[in-house]
Amino acid sequence: MKRVKMSDRLTLSAVVQGFWRLDGWNMDADELAYFMNCCIDRGVTTFDTAEIYGNTAVEKLMGDAFSKDPSIRSRIELVTKTGIFNHNGFGYYNTTSDRIIQSCHESLKRLNTDYIDLYLIHREDPLLDPWDTAKALKKLKSEGLVGEAGVSNFDPYKFDGLNKAMDGMLVTNQIEWNPVCFEHFNSGMIDYLTFHKIHPMIWSPLAGGRIFNKDDQLCERAYRKIAEIADRHHEDPATIIYAWIMYHPVGAIPLSGSKNPTRLDLAIRALDVKLEQYEWFEIYSASGQQQIR
Ligand SMILES: NC(=O)c1ccc[n+]([C@@H]2O[C@H](COP(=O)([O-])OP(=O)(O)OC[C@H]3O[C@@H](n4cnc5c(N)ncnc54)[C@H](OP(=O)(O)O)[C@@H]3O)[C@@H](O)[C@H]2O)c1
Repeated sequence: MKRVKMSDRLTLSAVVQGFWRLDGWNMDADELAYFMNCCIDRGVTTFDTAEIYGNTAVEKLMGDAFSKDPSIRSRIELVTKTGIFNHNGFGYYNTTSDRIIQSCHESLKRLNTDYIDLYLIHREDPLLDPWDTAKALKKLKSEGLVGEAGVSNFDPYKFDGLNKAMDGMLVTNQIEWNPVCFEHFNSGMIDYLTFHKIHPMIWSPLAGGRIFNKDDQLCERAYRKIAEIADRHHEDPATIIYAWIMYHPVGAIPLSGSKNPTRLDLAIRALDVKLEQYEWFEIYSASGQQQIR
């Protein structure tokens, strides 16, 4: 499996397994440990989760699996996120220093581990004070509780602000990108990351499964073109989508969200697919949202 260098101290597998949907997978700790080993056997050693997934239940389930098979933790890079909370079902953000430090300790406990390889601020917080947030991230790094820090869903302004407060040490922005979502192309975030040689992690590369929905007009239009390209390459359409994401010079790392290892294989296979330049643009414009002038 290809590895992607995020910093001098951290590399990630070029395909990451996401665990957002884990609380719907109906796996006990043994089954989850088995699934995690299936990922590791394939070279997919980076696991992504978040404090808010399943309202903290997902981190707990993962921690139980790490206890069942204690060999797993040292063979993976563990990514988790903080900053989203809910008060009686009302969602809000908190990226203050004290809250981040408290959350990190709580996540470590749930995950049954004493360090997090990559700790992300989950969403851009309108109340973000980059200097205060950076204070917590720097402290957690200096204590060895967190290996590297990054963010998720940030626009270029907030990314730049927090990165300056972090002395340029943010290693990623985890963002949504798929054949029907171009927010971060249009905001300039992808250009920013490409220029600064920072690799984004890409969530919902298959639009959370929506891309296969024939009743969704945008997805149906995009999928028809993707299926045509997949035929040309004798590949699965999902593989073509992952290859499209990995084609970009920014060096993006897709997160597969499936509970099915054979669907994870479709992402891994994309590392060997070489699209033509015109095919990249065929997918870029297929949904009709992005114009080629
Ligand atoms: N930072 C953030 O704000 C953020 C937000 C969302 C997600 N994430 C991360 O990104 C990861 C991936 O996101 P995602 O789960 O939305 O990714 P995704 O890979 O786009 O979607 C996964 C979903 O698509 C389904 N699927 C896959 N192949 C399919 C097919 N051929 N036909 C029908 N359905 C298919 C899967 O079902 P099966 O399981 O049945 O295969 C699963 O429900 C998450 O686990 C999480 O770690 C981060």
